[in-house]
Amino acid sequence: MKDLSTIYKLSVIAFALLGDVCSSRCSVLECWFVQERPGGGGFSAGMSQEKSALYIRTDPDSEKIEHKPPSDISPSRIYYVSDPASTFCSSALHPPEGSVNKPQCEINPFTPQASMVKWAAPLTSSAQSPIYLSADWFSVAAQGLNGELTLANVMRAQSGSKEPSVILSVSSKTSTVRSRLGEPVVLDCGFWVDPSSPLHGSGFAVEWRYQFRGEGRLVVAYDGKNDRFAETSETDADLDIVGLYETGNASLVLKEAQVRHAGTYICTVYLPHLLAQVALELEIVEPPALAVYPSPLPLSVPGQVVTVHCEASGFHPLSLDLDWEFTDAEGKKRSLGQGSVTGHRQARDGTYSQSARLELDSFKLGLGRGGEISCVAKHQGGSRRATVTLNVIGVSAPSIEDSMAMVAVALVLYGVIKVLFWTFSSNGTSNGDSNDKKEK
Ligand SMILES: *[C@@H]1O[C@H](CO)[C@@H](O)[C@H](O)[C@H]1NC(C)=O
Repeated sequence: MKDLSTIYKLSVIAFALLGDVCSSRCSVLECWFVQERPGGGGFSAGMSQEKSALYIRTDPDSEKIEHKPPSDISPSRIYYVSDPASTFCSSALHPPEGSVNKPQCEINPFTPQASMVKWAAPLTSSAQSPIYLSADWFSVAAQGLNGELTLANVMRAQSGSKEPSVILSVSSKTSTVRSRLGEPVVLDCGFWVDPSSPLHGSGFAVEWRYQFRGEGRLVVAYDGKNDRFAETSETDADLDIVGLYETGNASLVLKEAQVRHAGTYICTVYLPHLLAQVALELEIVEPPALAVYPSPLPLSVPGQVVTVHCEASGFHPLSLDLDWEFTDAEGKKRSLGQGSVTGHRQARDGTYSQSARLELDSFKLGLGRGGEISCVAKHQGGSRRATVTLNVIGVSAPSIEDSMAMVAVALVLYGVIKVLFWTFSSNGTSNGDSNDKKEK
């Protein structure tokens, strides 16, 4: 009886796990519901934050499954979301059960309004708000794990229904893009509009803005209503218009990454009265080019000080570790320290350079007859190494090669003497033999 109940329990657990695997992929998303504190509006009103849960259905015709809300979430903050394009279903938003890191998600009340920016204003030129807009609107911003997704959705629900549908979704596959200098860069951004919404097909606009340390500028803006680009100062950034219309691909392409491109990029998609935006970080990471001079190093005698320089240039960002290393004749490495490192300089292209100087006293540093002197640079973009050979002449203590050579010479000499000795002594005996025979 006991066995049976165990089997029963195990199978219940197994089914529960199976059910979890099948449905957990995109069933629920926990978000913070953030809104202005009711009754506020003053300067100090602040925001209120409540836990909320979005139960997601990708098939709008499927039966709505009632969920028992978790005890720490108010029933009024439970939403049953219809998401036919599975915008909420990326695995980056649904980590495995029990993982420590959680995706970030925030849901806010949203108020549709006509946009004032020049490239989006034509979308609402009629100045009338359709009845469609009088409903409950929400915006959701979510950030996947490991920077793998940034998502901004606008949702609409019949007033008071708590059953919103995703109407506009803007997303980027990554929240951080890293590029070396001179390479083409794609800043991913895509959007989706619910085809059953009256806003679908009534025009859109796309805008990319750049922001760095409080300074912002427009990179690209496309007015889809009039099929027109806004004037901007940026010349080497592009949108793929065909991709924009066919797949909602609003990715920004920078032809050649430069240091001045590093910063935050905001992709905004406008529909009439709606907008959603995602932000991406572009990092320009370029390892240094290294040079050691003088190269080759002059021959030196013990006690003579030779100064070596190492110049690291063309790197970004600034942080760099320079180190000196000595490799002796047997390949053994040891650090010679940093030497004296100069302050950095910034070139016109925004990259940095920095150098290190080392006073090489072969006697004091115990460098024997010399070896390889390397400058090693550690940088976020990778490690680099440059090497010169140090030759110290007239060192009194014999090296291993010297001793071995001496032993070899001694052996050869010994052999030669031995051979000579044999030759002479055997010559003497053979002569004696013949003499003996003659005597016989
Ligand atoms: C979007 O467009 C960019 C640039 O044209 C391209 O590199 C990228 O692969 C496209 N993304 C998709 C999902 O098609």
